[in-house]
Amino acid sequence: MVSKLDLLFGVLITAALMQFQIVFVIGEPQVPCYFIFGDSLVDNGNNNGLVTAAKANYTPYGADFPQGVTGRFTNGLTVADIIGQLLDFPNFIPSYATATNSEINSGVNYGSGGAGIRDETGRNLGDRISLNRQLLRHATIVSRLSNLQRNKTFTNEYIQKCIYIVNMGSNDYINNYLMPNNYPTSTIYTPYQYARVLIQQYSQQLKSLYKLGARKIAVFGLGFIGCTPAEIATFGTNGEPCVESINSATMLFNDRLSPLINDLNNAFFDARFTFINISSISAPQEGVVLPNVPCCQTRSDGQCVPNSVPCSDRTMYTWYDGFHPTEIANRFLASRSYAALSPMDASPYDISHLAQL
Ligand SMILES: *[C@@H]1O[C@H](CO)[C@@H](O)[C@H](O)[C@H]1NC(C)=O
Ligand SMILES: *[C@@H]1O[C@H](CO)[C@@H](O)[C@H](O)[C@H]1NC(C)=O
Repeated sequence: MVSKLDLLFGVLITAALMQFQIVFVIGEPQVPCYFIFGDSLVDNGNNNGLVTAAKANYTPYGADFPQGVTGRFTNGLTVADIIGQLLDFPNFIPSYATATNSEINSGVNYGSGGAGIRDETGRNLGDRISLNRQLLRHATIVSRLSNLQRNKTFTNEYIQKCIYIVNMGSNDYINNYLMPNNYPTSTIYTPYQYARVLIQQYSQQLKSLYKLGARKIAVFGLGFIGCTPAEIATFGTNGEPCVESINSATMLFNDRLSPLINDLNNAFFDARFTFINISSISAPQEGVVLPNVPCCQTRSDGQCVPNSVPCSDRTMYTWYDGFHPTEIANRFLASRSYAALSPMDASPYDISHLAQL
């Protein structure tokens, strides 16, 4: 997530991206398929049929999306959509909820708002597809693909060439640890211990993904959750721009995630895991700084008020609602995940290099 966005820089990147798309729009995707695991930052409609407050299938979500409302938690494209475009996929990757047999060979999006590394995370909002359940869904997709392709060797080789992104952990803080009235985790664990237990569980889950055939896996670190308008409204900032206690708790998670990625690369010599450092990408920069306020009117849970009128210039805001970036902020995150501007943005590989390996 973005705390402050250097507007000028963002606009330059966007202009560069548009050129890129114009030049490369014709042709094959760089990899045969692209699978997306995560939470509301990548959800493209999986929650629409669930009983949960964590769904975005109403206006003003989708105000700038070609098909309007889809369940995406932003005005336009998600970070996962934009990475797909940068990988030259001609269409958006379908949600698991709607994917047909003819679509699944280009990949599936399992993202679910409210979901976490821990199964109970997000329960306060209602139903959600936790990472464990997303992995079970992926196992069914792999066997469907195998049945369709009718050649196990071919399918195994095929899915090894794909890009997998995993964007998890924000809700294990927002909709778990930071809600002491709903969850006991903050009384059981210090922030340091909690980061450790999350990373232990995440490690098992990433190994499961490997066992399901994934070999090119980009894992996103956490952004500055303490800078989201909703957390600022809930906790206050003591005169700082952000809730520093939240940012320092989530940094403990990031500090352990990067070494986990190195460990996984050492343990599985035929796999390439990479760490996408969202806190490096979204660190405050020189130049015009956008305030941490939402574009839409928000409900008490941080989501947009249904049918409310959003801000008119969505390129001037980092946040669409109380938690989720606008498309322009997503463009900034996606472009630097894809093509790192600094070695700190992505290590050991950015997504463009992961695709070529
Ligand atoms: C199955 O796929 C492998 C790998 O692409 C290929 O070498 C083999 O010839 C295929 N087998 C059949 C029966 O088509
Ligand atoms: C991630 O970015 C932060 C800067 O926000 C930096 O302190 C940290 O070292 C980076 N991590 C890696 C593994 O590069």
